[in-house]
Amino acid sequence: MLNSSIGIFDSGVGGLTVYRAIRERLPEEKIIYLGDTARIPYGTRSAATVRRYAYQDASFLYKQNVKLLVIACNTISSVALDLLTENFPVPILGVIEPGAKKAIQTTKNGRIGVIATEATVESNAYVKAIKTLNSSVEVYTQACPLFVALAEEGWHNHKATKLIAIEYLSYLQSQEIDTLVLGCTHYPLLKEVIQSVVGSKVTLIDSGACVAEEVEGLIKSSDTVTSNKNTCLDSFYVTDSGKRFSRIAELFLGQPIENLIAVDIWDENAKFKSNIDINLSKLSLNNL
Ligand code: DGL
Repeated sequence: MLNSSIGIFDSGVGGLTVYRAIRERLPEEKIIYLGDTARIPYGTRSAATVRRYAYQDASFLYKQNVKLLVIACNTISSVALDLLTENFPVPILGVIEPGAKKAIQTTKNGRIGVIATEATVESNAYVKAIKTLNSSVEVYTQACPLFVALAEEGWHNHKATKLIAIEYLSYLQSQEIDTLVLGCTHYPLLKEVIQSVVGSKVTLIDSGACVAEEVEGLIKSSDTVTSNKNTCLDSFYVTDSGKRFSRIAELFLGQPIENLIAVDIWDENAKFKSNIDINLSKLSLNNL
């Protein structure tokens, strides 16, 4: 157990913001990252499809002897955390709870905004998580699907990004929020432009950074700290050609990545392909 790794997965490259935050906090741990680049975006797909993909992603990492699974993707965390928790016997952390907790600790006027993909907004996961912690808080949500493409394009400070941000964020501003959750892996890359639009009185919450804090706490308290970093490089797996991933990864990490491998993760679950609407909530590991 002590030699096993931390598994992190996302629909693509965006989860590297979470990878970076965990890497900084736990430099001795080996991390295995999976980006399902062949099927991104997840954020515009139905919950049933995202659950099926998420199950395949988690199966792949589980077989790599991970001691902990981190769902870096907000969309997967919103609609499939229950499915994965039921089916994989390792601790699994999603990004919604940590982001919700931090938002509650931060707000002073009790008015919180959440920006995310369409699937995350539709799932209501942030609203439920925040309201469970404090039912008197008001939560306002806004889907910002174009932000994903703009972040991947590297348009952090582009005037088009600013115009789109003004359009997306005007509703939340009119609700007088004082706290804004960046509920998508890609949005921290657009932090500056988002902050410039909402103004300095609104505090931005990076859910990825919040989950990294929880991962550190969990690893340290559960006596599974390892120190194999000097002997092992982190591994990065993608489900499509690595070219685009490598290029965008540099934007997210500020440096090139090594050890990038393309894999096929869905053969082992091919039986699910023929029935897209299968109810995965009752699947157990024994059904594999
Ligand atoms: N990783 C996704 C999320 O955090 C954004 C990209 C996608 O739509 O797949 O919701």
